[in-house]
Amino acid sequence: MTTTPATLSTAAELLAEKIASRTARVGIIGLGYVGLPLAVEFAKAGFTVTGIDLVESKVERINAGDSYVQDVSPADVAALVEAGKLKATTDFSVIAELDTINICVPTPLRKTKDPDMSYIVAACQEIAKFVHPGLLAILESTTYPGTTDELVLPMLSGTGMAVGRDFFLCFSPERVDPGNPKFQTRNIPKVVGGVTAECTRMGALFYGQALEHVVPVSSTQVAEMVKLLENTFRMINIGLVNELAVMCGRMGINIWEVIDAAATKPFGFMPFYPGPGLGGHCIPIDPFYLSWKSRQAGIEARFIELAGYINGQMPHFVVEKVQNALNDRAKAVKGSHIHILGVAYKRDIDDVRESPALDIIHLLQRRGATVTFIDPYVPSIRMDEEILLAAEPGGAVTNADCVVIVTDHAGTDYDALLANAALIVDTRNALRGHTSDKLIRL
Ligand SMILES: NC(=O)c1ccc[n+]([C@@H]2O[C@H](COP(=O)([O-])OP(=O)(O)OC[C@H]3O[C@@H](n4cnc5c(N)ncnc54)[C@H](O)[C@@H]3O)[C@@H](O)[C@H]2O)c1
Repeated sequence: MTTTPATLSTAAELLAEKIASRTARVGIIGLGYVGLPLAVEFAKAGFTVTGIDLVESKVERINAGDSYVQDVSPADVAALVEAGKLKATTDFSVIAELDTINICVPTPLRKTKDPDMSYIVAACQEIAKFVHPGLLAILESTTYPGTTDELVLPMLSGTGMAVGRDFFLCFSPERVDPGNPKFQTRNIPKVVGGVTAECTRMGALFYGQALEHVVPVSSTQVAEMVKLLENTFRMINIGLVNELAVMCGRMGINIWEVIDAAATKPFGFMPFYPGPGLGGHCIPIDPFYLSWKSRQAGIEARFIELAGYINGQMPHFVVEKVQNALNDRAKAVKGSHIHILGVAYKRDIDDVRESPALDIIHLLQRRGATVTFIDPYVPSIRMDEEILLAAEPGGAVTNADCVVIVTDHAGTDYDALLANAALIVDTRNALRGHTSDKLIRL
């Protein structure tokens, strides 16, 4: 859009001018895996960015020029803080001085598998205190379709300002893939949908300053549903391939070889891989936001429930594999030493949220095994009330009755593992190409 001083009469035009000239003061609520990389991208693009988080220690680390998110380099944070482009605070009153505010807070499930909206509500209550003409608010947390219009909008319009005229509200799903060196915040296309067309225009203009490709859509509901389609697609396809892995195991067929051969089809097939179960903050959780909303509309999300059940069974399947492999060697899980290689929910990251490794360790301990683990990214894990420290490298593999590869981090010395372990259950096909009597694949 082209603006001249003579046309800067509405809140939209003033905001558009500030965004285009990168003088807009940007705010990010929630400085985690999503919020901190986003804050850094906008600061790198020349905006002055203020991050807001409840956790004092995170705020202190950022202001000290440090990073606690693996994909964000401390050097980048330090340079941006030094240049006055990035700062963090626990004080929400700064919103009064900001032009944009992105909400990147957690959206977990309650024990009942219902959405826990308390973090979004808490963040919006703070924004509502300081919402002002010309503010662009964008929800990025993954949530059910309808959240932005039905929950966030009424909270922010309480002051009598009109959305699309006085302030602007969008939903834009975050698609960050932690640990992915090829696709990061900057080059992952950004979908954005506003409550009104003017909101979408503001949102698209905003992201267009710092990110490479913006995909405007017609509504917040479409943008919300895009994220749920993407993650539900993954979750269901992983569920399908996990079920096939169980079938193939029973029939003595190598599922990994089947998938590799099927993936040679140049159209109409996309490979998904089985594993020890789903992990992370997204795939095991997001589809249940959709099934919850769908139930309200009178439709049971049967694919989601089924895939959720199958994926949830995978840690049990892995433990059965371990048990059968030990039984074949006249041993039992009870009294055995089982060593877990990798506890992060996927390779080359340090995140153990919802990691299937935690379930596997718990199940093995319940059956009377002594369990140790090692993970180059995770020094300790919390198991209920107990903290389990990582084993010293080396000895545990040789001493264990069985080693279970749960996470296939790059850099693992699999030749040494094959040479030193008595028995290996490989849930990731990390030992692709190897054959050995002591190797059991998923
Ligand atoms: N991690 C991912 O790979 C990923 C990918 C895509 C989407 N998402 C979605 O993005 C959202 C954020 O996920 P995340 O992984 O960054 O979570 P996170 O737990 O890493 O970070 C959330 C941050 O928000 C802070 N916070 C919580 N409540 C707050 C409040 N009321 N005010 C201010 N700060 C608050 C927390 O202290 C934390 O620092 C979730 O909805 C998630 O589903 C995550």
